[in-house]
Amino acid sequence: MMLNQIPKKLGLLTLLVSALFLSETSLAMEHPGKALAEKIGVPWPAVIGHRGASFDAPEETIPSYALARDLGADYLEMDIQRTKDGVLIALHDNTLGRTTNIAQVYPERVNDPISTFTLEELKRLDAGSWFNAAFPARARSSYVGLKILTLNEVINIAEEGENKPGLYVETKLPAQFPGVEEDLQKLLAKRGWLDQRPAAAKGHVNVANTPGRVILQTFERPSLELLQKNMPQVPKVLLLWIGDGYMEASSTVDFKASGAKDKAAFYAKREVKSEAEFAAWMDWAKAHGASGIGPASVLKHGGDQSYMDMVKPWMTKMAHDRGLLIHPYTVDAAEDFKALSMRGADGFFTNRAAQLLKFYGRPSKDSIDTLLRRNGY
Ligand code: G3P
Ligand code: CA
Repeated sequence: MMLNQIPKKLGLLTLLVSALFLSETSLAMEHPGKALAEKIGVPWPAVIGHRGASFDAPEETIPSYALARDLGADYLEMDIQRTKDGVLIALHDNTLGRTTNIAQVYPERVNDPISTFTLEELKRLDAGSWFNAAFPARARSSYVGLKILTLNEVINIAEEGENKPGLYVETKLPAQFPGVEEDLQKLLAKRGWLDQRPAAAKGHVNVANTPGRVILQTFERPSLELLQKNMPQVPKVLLLWIGDGYMEASSTVDFKASGAKDKAAFYAKREVKSEAEFAAWMDWAKAHGASGIGPASVLKHGGDQSYMDMVKPWMTKMAHDRGLLIHPYTVDAAEDFKALSMRGADGFFTNRAAQLLKFYGRPSKDSIDTLLRRNGY
């Protein structure tokens, strides 16, 4: 009985797999972003390890970036700020309270901006223990005492593994760091990342060896102009937001007045003022050197990563029609990958590179635990 059922089950499975493969293949063939990505040498669809593999390890630290690299992410994503003594570092927040033990080390400086700390002062902080407290199910004793990284150290990680991912570099709060775009150009040039780089061994991620090895990203239009001036040949992505001085919103009602139950519900209702406003931003981005946009998105499984819907089909059409790729942030669940891909996404910023790689049909052969242990975590 059992043996008789096996071929039937296998036949059904083959049909299902074929249907899935055919639909994904035809999606790729019909997708305008695929041709755009090929033209500028950016992988399609792209897996962008947001702050590394930051679901499973403390964001923007060694285990997070090494894990994203070893899982097979196309890019290591990072937020660039500059220390008081002029060193470029990878850190998201403007202050240190969320992701370090600054309250114990420099209690009087908890709300001070990053630009007021020297690298030596930052290196005294523990950038790993907060993760263990926030996410006990994913905690590891080896995360205690992790350090904030310089950009040079992140580049070392990108270069050290068998996979050779690219760098997806954001100028974070660039108005606080005048000249950061030029500093970035100098550092990338010094490290050889603005020129052709060695190929990875066959079967490994090879993005560092392609023209799209570095993608520069920013929310700030003046910074995009400076990135374009300093590195005209490097692909750039304009990150998008509605309201708060960015794209004009259809309403100015704030969170408190809106009566929304949480921030995600509040943002989900926020709309761009008009199609013309959105089109003007797309035109501006294209005219100032962008190769793509990084839109916010409403997520079914997003929590505080769920913002406003900037991946509506008419929006993705406008972007693609202008030759702009679409990399929404920050998406971690298969249901959201699928929905946004169907609307035109060309890849995602994700904290869960393993999940996105699985969705795209190129899963890591090693588990997260195996890779973390292999790197000593
Ligand atoms: O850089 C893309 C995405 O990371 C933007 O959001 O705040 O995580 O930098 P954020
Ligand atoms: Ca970022």
